[in-house]
Amino acid sequence: MCGIIGYVGSKDALPILIDSLKQLEYRGYDSSGVGLLGHNAQLIVRKAKGKIASLEELIRHQPVPYASVGISHTRWATHGLPSDINSHPHTDNKHRLAVVHNGIIENYQPLKEALKKKGCKFISQTDTEVIAHLVATLYNGDLVEAVRRAINQLKGAFAIGVIHADHPDMLVAARVGSPLIVGVGERENYIASDVPAIIERTRRVIYLKDGQMAVLTKEGVKVSDFAGKAAAFKIDTVDFNVTAARKEGYPHFMLKEIHEQPQALAQMISLRLKNGRLNCEGLDLSDAVLGGIKRIAMVACGTAYHAGLVGKYVIEELARLPVDVDTSSEFRYRNPIIDKHTLLVAVSQSGETADTLAAVREAKAKGAKIVVICNVIGSSIVRESDGVLYTHAGPEIGVASTKAYTAQLMMFYILALRLAAARKTISPAGAKKFIAELKRIPLLYKDILKKKAHVQKAAEANSHFGCFLFLGRNVNYPSALEGALKLKEISYIPAEGYAAGEMKHGPIALIDEYRAVVCIAPQSHVYEKMASNMQEIRARKGNIIAIATQGDKEIKRHADFVLDIPKAHELLTPLLVALPLQLLAYYIAVKRGNDVDQPRNLAKSVTVE
Ligand code: F6R
Repeated sequence: MCGIIGYVGSKDALPILIDSLKQLEYRGYDSSGVGLLGHNAQLIVRKAKGKIASLEELIRHQPVPYASVGISHTRWATHGLPSDINSHPHTDNKHRLAVVHNGIIENYQPLKEALKKKGCKFISQTDTEVIAHLVATLYNGDLVEAVRRAINQLKGAFAIGVIHADHPDMLVAARVGSPLIVGVGERENYIASDVPAIIERTRRVIYLKDGQMAVLTKEGVKVSDFAGKAAAFKIDTVDFNVTAARKEGYPHFMLKEIHEQPQALAQMISLRLKNGRLNCEGLDLSDAVLGGIKRIAMVACGTAYHAGLVGKYVIEELARLPVDVDTSSEFRYRNPIIDKHTLLVAVSQSGETADTLAAVREAKAKGAKIVVICNVIGSSIVRESDGVLYTHAGPEIGVASTKAYTAQLMMFYILALRLAAARKTISPAGAKKFIAELKRIPLLYKDILKKKAHVQKAAEANSHFGCFLFLGRNVNYPSALEGALKLKEISYIPAEGYAAGEMKHGPIALIDEYRAVVCIAPQSHVYEKMASNMQEIRARKGNIIAIATQGDKEIKRHADFVLDIPKAHELLTPLLVALPLQLLAYYIAVKRGNDVDQPRNLAKSVTVE
């Protein structure tokens, strides 16, 4: 949550900071601000509640002088309501230094009390403001030393950027738990929460490690640990498609990312397919180790958790290996039963989700091997795992996850086949047939996307309902959960996902002519059961949107709208039904006039608990 960008160089910092900040708006967007070091040893701060456009508006009315060093921030509130005062940067009482922060300072209350006793006056409700006052009280002319002493007193997660009017050519940064990278340019350097913020300016990146701080001037970068010992660092060159961070003519990133799915999955298959066999490069576990695994434990949050649930069905079916799936926040606090025969699979688009990172650490401490399915190269969870299966879906900017989800699903099919081969639960011929089915998926996606106008029609006809139920069975039970999550995230309509077999155990009480029910009913061994559920809904006047296999005449008799998916192997249907579910949520949210890419209260990376 929250996005940070900082610049040290010779150019006008403001347009660089504002432009780059926009690339980070997906991390939080309830307020934003900038702090600049102008000539005459002056600190200039502008901040405003609302999106970055509000900050730009403020600066139009209160222009800032030319400055070539600055920090900026886009906020997702943790402590203190979104407001001008609570926006970052935060400053000390002499208005000499400014701090931007992503994370949570857990011991901010005792620090605040101690600082108040020393005469510091707090004006915001944030935890971040303690950092500004703490650095100021420790400052005696050496900014780097003051920041170092301050961060050694902080508990929790933080990525910070600090500037001081006495040091008009310097930016000090540090991180623990929250992501922060350093961008290395030509006589200019950057800090940023994520690669998209700087990619148009430099591809050379230092991934700061937990417990490291960096001092940036336009001449160079120095990295050290929190004790002040210089640390060696590597400059990576990032391979990142710049157009991926732009809407490219689509009205929203979400719609663009939905359309990118055929290409993302085709690329993933071609990267993984060698000599007719799918490989799990990055897994780094031999057949002997894989054969010795007794159980898989999975941890993930939100959409990634739903992908993990699909993974359970797929792995258990193909590799006959027991799989437990937990939400990371439950796993980390429940003393889970894990040993060295457990493979822990973490699923995370960003690789920065705080609860998933903590769950990984918990499992590691208990001796499990850790593999992460992740989309962001070099992210925190990747760095703490034994193996990584990158989804390579490209940057996902829309807050509601779409292409990262289907890429995670695809990775589960690939992993399941790998495990099945190691455990000899699939024949080479069986694996070949399954791979052929997987290879068809990108083409089938194109077919589904061609019919999006029909999904839009169904969405618009149902967008007035105040409550939705999503029902699915077996491998599509997680699809129902995901469909409901997508809808509530961006349309704000209460929506519940259920295993259809559970309908009579409660949710049927909700059904009447004022509810819409999305029934996921592709051809499968539980098809008849889904058809019966639909008749029961019909008998209670529920409005039905069904997702069914093309050409299914039976389902048409029970549903108000039928969204087709092409015929495919039953185990692969979650990959297909994901598209109409995403489009349905998208068009309903658009019809209701919502901000699809930046839904209220949400942020793309949840780097705090
Ligand atoms: C929903 C969504 C979230 C994320 C969740 C985990 O559309 O995007 O539910 O799936 O916050 O995030 P990652 O995958 O980055 O760990």
